[in-house]
Amino acid sequence: MDVRKQALAGFALTIVLIRFYDCGAMYLCVCKAVSERTARRAIREQGVVSLRELTRTHGIGTCCGKCVPAARALLEEELAASTPLAAPPLPLSAGAVAV
Ligand code: FES
Repeated sequence: MDVRKQALAGFALTIVLIRFYDCGAMYLCVCKAVSERTARRAIREQGVVSLRELTRTHGIGTCCGKCVPAARALLEEELAASTPLAAPPLPLSAGAVAV
């Protein structure tokens, strides 16, 4: 098998594996074949908190860079969703003065 056919076979196998593991998921980074689902999972379950970490762990943005704005937006969205809301104010007891 010549080199070109091997490359095509490798590419086809990669696509099949990606589709198997990320059925129906949208690609966040096409160059590195990282789906939005994979990136969300990294943020939620692996404790990724910055674009730099997402880049280091998954290669997002290391090729053409077109995915960086979307990756940044996804990261902000996930981090905002995971941040606990501020606790509601405690009720004032009788005789207490609100400041
Ligand atoms: S789409 Fe992510 S580096 Fe090209």
